Amino acid sequence: MLNKIKALLQEVEQLKASNAEELEALRIKYLSKKGEIFLLMNEFRNVAADQKREVGIFLNELKETTQNKINEIKEGFNNAQVSLDEIDLTRTAYPVSMGTRHPLSIVKKEICDIFGRLGFSIAEGPEIEDDWHVFSSLNFADDHPARDMQDTFFIQHNPEIVLRTHTSSVQTRVMEKQEPPIRIICPGRVYRNEAISYRAHCFFHQVEALYIDKDVSFADLKQALIFFAKEMFGPETNIRLRPSYFPFTEPSAEMDISCNLCGGKGCPFCKHTGWVEILGCGMVHPNVLENCGIDSKVYSGYALGMGIERITNLKYQVKDLRLFSENDIRFLRQFESAN
Ligand code: DAH
Repeated sequence: MLNKIKALLQEVEQLKASNAEELEALRIKYLSKKGEIFLLMNEFRNVAADQKREVGIFLNELKETTQNKINEIKEGFNNAQVSLDEIDLTRTAYPVSMGTRHPLSIVKKEICDIFGRLGFSIAEGPEIEDDWHVFSSLNFADDHPARDMQDTFFIQHNPEIVLRTHTSSVQTRVMEKQEPPIRIICPGRVYRNEAISYRAHCFFHQVEALYIDKDVSFADLKQALIFFAKEMFGPETNIRLRPSYFPFTEPSAEMDISCNLCGGKGCPFCKHTGWVEILGCGMVHPNVLENCGIDSKVYSGYALGMGIERITNLKYQVKDLRLFSENDIRFLRQFESAN
């Protein structure tokens, strides 16, 4: 019996079939209930007890090899190329449903394009940052509340590593490496430890702009802001600057634009003031320049930062921030035409 099994083993290794019927015939010949291997299995009970072990091993091997061989041939058929005359080249293609750009991506691109026209180039930095780039280099005092656990996500057990709370961290990364003139726009995701609601999320997106050169003045900043506001929200848009405070700029300001829903007359959206706040800005603090190895007596610069969600809300009146991260197709599809 052993010889018979060994002969069969050799035989099945040479098996060939050129189509599915032939293959099925082979399967029946070897593996069906009346097939060769099954018959051997039946005979197995007559094998002398002291040979059972050896014969059993070979018999199993035969069964496995045959099964594998048949599968292998079958796969070969599946992978074989379909001949050209089996393809109908005139048949209409299946419609491919195209995705749409995310509203935040649309607005991010628009902001970057506008600053691109002013000569700014895109710079990016890591979302997992160190304390130096997010806070210390930007002139945050050690006890500044923004460093607080309530605002900042820290990486466990390491107070030096944080999820960046603003894209201002990219400013210092670039200033450390590059000599002025620097003219960059830095879009990216930021994280803050906020309870999620319709008006706050634990992550959102910002765009930061930075311009460092000799003799950069507040007038240059204002000119860039006016250009941006009119390009983004239309030529009739007005801006106003209110004094503010940021550790990394001095003087600092917040910019409002005339409400683009009511044209400045007053409506619920602008809380009847006619103005809506859109960004923070200012002249880069000399300490920040020095922290990054730039001589503050030679160079000056301005910086500004804005939330992309906020600008998107103004453009598209999205009432609930959570919609931006829920991947609801019904919401996202509405921006199809804005592609
Ligand atoms: N980093 C600020 C924030 O997250 C935004 C900001 C304000 C950026 C003023 C600036 C700036 O560059 O000059 O709220």
